[in-house]
Amino acid sequence: KNNTYILAIESSCDDTAAAVLHNDKTLANVVAGQAVHEQYGGVVPELASRAHQQNIVPVVHEALRKANVKKEDLNAIAFTSGPGLMGSLLVGTSFAKSLAMGLDIPLIDVNHMQAHILAHFIEEEGYDKPEFPFLAMTISGGHTQIVRVDSYFDMTVIGQTLDDAVGEAFDKSAKILGLPYPGGPLIDKYAQLGNPKAYKFTKPKVGDLDFSFSGLKTAVLYFYQKEVAADPDFVEKNRNDICASIQHTIINILMDKIKKAVKQTGIKQVAIGGGVSANSGIRKALKDAEQKYGWKTFVPKFEYTTDNAAMIGIVGYLKYLEENLAETGYTDTKVMAQ
Ligand code: KG4
Ligand code: ZN
Repeated sequence: KNNTYILAIESSCDDTAAAVLHNDKTLANVVAGQAVHEQYGGVVPELASRAHQQNIVPVVHEALRKANVKKEDLNAIAFTSGPGLMGSLLVGTSFAKSLAMGLDIPLIDVNHMQAHILAHFIEEEGYDKPEFPFLAMTISGGHTQIVRVDSYFDMTVIGQTLDDAVGEAFDKSAKILGLPYPGGPLIDKYAQLGNPKAYKFTKPKVGDLDFSFSGLKTAVLYFYQKEVAADPDFVEKNRNDICASIQHTIINILMDKIKKAVKQTGIKQVAIGGGVSANSGIRKALKDAEQKYGWKTFVPKFEYTTDNAAMIGIVGYLKYLEENLAETGYTDTKVMAQ
């Protein structure tokens, strides 16, 4: 079992991804994005499934080629079973099931959110692994959660968004400013050149460890309409400051809640995951908190922040070691039989 090759497939949203892991090390991590959604300013589910259909075979081939592993050498196949867009999930699921059946090897289902968290257990030089228990904040285009992690598979959601995900707050604000989808990375880029205190956006009042981001989107829209009515070139002239101010507000919201979670649980290890953990501002805020509050923080390697299959592979490997068959629901394929 310490010589295990796992092929992992991720297709929950708009990235078709395949990875090959040898135990807890990534041999190949291939992601094909889908430019088709850019012109619509967001992911179009029907187009996403179609693009997955086109991409899945080349992406898997490329991962095996890069890893220099033959499919006959694979010990198991891991795939994302949810959450995600149904049509997108079906492509990866059907492909994984068929390949596992054809190769007569175990099939392992993986929860996408667990994978964003357990990505921290991929062996990478220069990256420490958290110790249990730790807090994980999953921040992406589809979710915003604070999770208490007591072991690989014992996770409790202790806070989450009541409306939009934080990635949506970035993307929708960017859209209002006329930036293409996904706007998160662009806001990050401009924010680095601007003054975060130039404009003020009010923070939502939400109880406990929960989040709300829909109010911010509306605040940005009203701000935009008011300023552009007075000066049509307002965004052109002040793009960096606007982006820096929006990002500053979002990071404050995230940091307030994670500080509260640390206080409530007494757990001072904080890991982040998901697409928004690529954001330079949140990365810096966490490092500052490490100094200021004596936390230990964990930020994933860049390639494991946005959706990828290596994170699915590490969960597959950990489940493989434990012969963890939880919630597969797939009885027609040999699931983890040894
Ligand atoms: O995890 P992910 O790839 O997909 C989901 O599971 O949703 O996250 C995508 C999200 C998008 O909203 C994107 O704008 C955001 O992550 N994102 C960023 C950055 N890089 C990606 N947001 C802010 N700053 C970034 N650097
Ligand atoms: Zn994700």
